[in-house]
Amino acid sequence: MIFLGLASNYRARDIWRHSFAIGSQKDYDSLEQALAKRYGSDLMHTSLIYSGRSAIALALKSFIESGKLAKGDHVAINSFTCHAVLEAIKYAGLEPVFVDLEQAINGEILPNYSAKSLDTLAQKDKKLKCFILQNTFGFPVDIRQFEKVKKDHNLLLLEDLAHCAGRKYPDGREVGTVGEATCLSFGKGKSLDTITGGAVILRDQTISFPKNFNKAQLKSRELAGGLSSRASWYPCFAAIARGLTHLHLEKYWLGLLLKLKWIERSGDTKLLLDTTVTHWQAKLALRQLRSLKNSGLREFFLVDDREAVLKELKKHGARLEEFWYEVPVAPERYYSKVHFPEKSCPNAVFFAGHVVNLPTWYTSKHHQKQVAAARQIIKSHELKGGNHDRV
Ligand SMILES: Cc1ncc(COP(=O)(O)O)c(C=O)c1O
Repeated sequence: MIFLGLASNYRARDIWRHSFAIGSQKDYDSLEQALAKRYGSDLMHTSLIYSGRSAIALALKSFIESGKLAKGDHVAINSFTCHAVLEAIKYAGLEPVFVDLEQAINGEILPNYSAKSLDTLAQKDKKLKCFILQNTFGFPVDIRQFEKVKKDHNLLLLEDLAHCAGRKYPDGREVGTVGEATCLSFGKGKSLDTITGGAVILRDQTISFPKNFNKAQLKSRELAGGLSSRASWYPCFAAIARGLTHLHLEKYWLGLLLKLKWIERSGDTKLLLDTTVTHWQAKLALRQLRSLKNSGLREFFLVDDREAVLKELKKHGARLEEFWYEVPVAPERYYSKVHFPEKSCPNAVFFAGHVVNLPTWYTSKHHQKQVAAARQIIKSHELKGGNHDRV
């Protein structure tokens, strides 16, 4: 069987490593140092933090405290994203503005917005001062075009690396080395995955962390209410869930774990600016950072009838229901609260209604064969002018 989600990116030895990892302050410091170096900053402007959304909120608050943004300013974001991004922007006292997904000349809808759309928005929205690029699924944007718009309208760029750490832009620069701030998530299924965690790198040295943020005094998540055991055992719990799918019992197992609060849904990670990752998480994240590759996180395709395709895939042992994303701002349980402007973002609505993903992390021949078979099923339902396995 192949899966999306449920820590299916963890091989047996990763589960073992994750469950029994021990780290030290040295590992924590080494990760901060490695991030500062990789993304062109220094230790004073780099901090690990509780989650990806905490990282984005902290970066935006830093922009505000450094006088680069004012409360109420607008921040452009992808119209196909996670509500975590919205949560972070609102937390910082800013206003998110959705930009619709790009439609290429051949009709294909791409998973990111275009520089042209950002330009159009910046011309009419005088409160727009900042934009976030997330390079969805690790599919990179043409950064040169965005840099031109950035310069023309004097915008700040926050690069959100949740999906795309290690990726290169078409001009060869690494993602995360262009904007004023770079944010990482170490959440489940992300480019760096230690189940939870995040990092901020302020790349513009005229921007500093807020005065009330003291990175030396952050609480470890170990002390934030016993959450640490949950993060370290998640890959093990998820492996059991994957095993139970053969007996159709995984729902009960996951339901029990949720009830016991031993796991949490990915969308429900907290936004905390006074808490950070554990030493062992830092150790694992550093190991992953060192071996990041310039490759996509997930393949994506648009299909005609997604429900039917997922059913067919399930029959053939491919459990791909945890695709990104089922609505323009996921997860679906929060979608109605977002008041997403569907009329002005038709491409995003269409994309979210038809997208399916394929995992890119399976390495064994046996699993790769299963991925190829799933790809074949998907391709037989692929929409004309849809997307191709290009990540
Ligand atoms: C594009 C994107 N950015 C940021 C985040 C936030 O990450 P976290 O869950 O670590 O807060 C997510 C979460 O799913 C995401 O999909």
